[in-house]
Amino acid sequence: MKSDKLVVGNMKMNLLASDVSLYLKEFHFDEQQDQVVICPSTIYIPYFLKQPYKVGIQNLFFRDKGAYTGEISVSQAASLGIDYAIIGHSERRIYFKESDQDINKKIISALKYGFHIILCIGETAEEKGLLKTARVLKRQLLNDLRNVEKEFFSQIIIAYEPVWAIGNDVTPTMVEIEETVQYIKGIILQYFGYEDIKVLYGGSVNSKNIEELNQIPNVSGFLVGGASINAEEFLKIIEVAVKK
Ligand code: PGA
Repeated sequence: MKSDKLVVGNMKMNLLASDVSLYLKEFHFDEQQDQVVICPSTIYIPYFLKQPYKVGIQNLFFRDKGAYTGEISVSQAASLGIDYAIIGHSERRIYFKESDQDINKKIISALKYGFHIILCIGETAEEKGLLKTARVLKRQLLNDLRNVEKEFFSQIIIAYEPVWAIGNDVTPTMVEIEETVQYIKGIILQYFGYEDIKVLYGGSVNSKNIEELNQIPNVSGFLVGGASINAEEFLKIIEVAVKK
């Protein structure tokens, strides 16, 4: 039986144009796969739009148009037919100093254009060491989703991505993930009154650990970074998460 899990590939700033044409040949489905979302570098998005899966953008700027050199607006992304947007990835928060307030503006703006938002939250190693995980996640959720009305929550997907588990083959235990996902769902219910929020897990998901991660009962899917730029590896992950 097919599951209803969502698998999102965050290709980050990887692949050259020649790699993309090879990837498109290898990453192939016979039928439409609405539970698979690829987020390539923005310049490659047009190549992915006619493929039988969904396409997402890795970042957006909240203003509609104007003199903002190098930025891509929500309305521009919407006009291309992009369905999903990753917002608040820890690399944007850390390297580009995005604040919860910036993230909140992006979310409010993108929701109005009908985007499905993949909001990334997660604690750093230091915060985990100081036992601040719950506090950090709550702060991110409440600030990033401030003033988002309940009717928009069906467009929101939370990706729990512990910063210390990204790109290094380390993951939390299954129990830690399950408990943290439960905590996130509880916050959304308590503060926003929405019961059915989808929570993905992200951080070093690969073809070797996916069978185990896929057993966690309350996880709605996966955000895959490094493993998504290898078509064969990514297809194996999808095979387990989506088709089983
Ligand atoms: P990773 O990245 O799978 O390479 O750990 C995940 C992410 O940053 O979204």
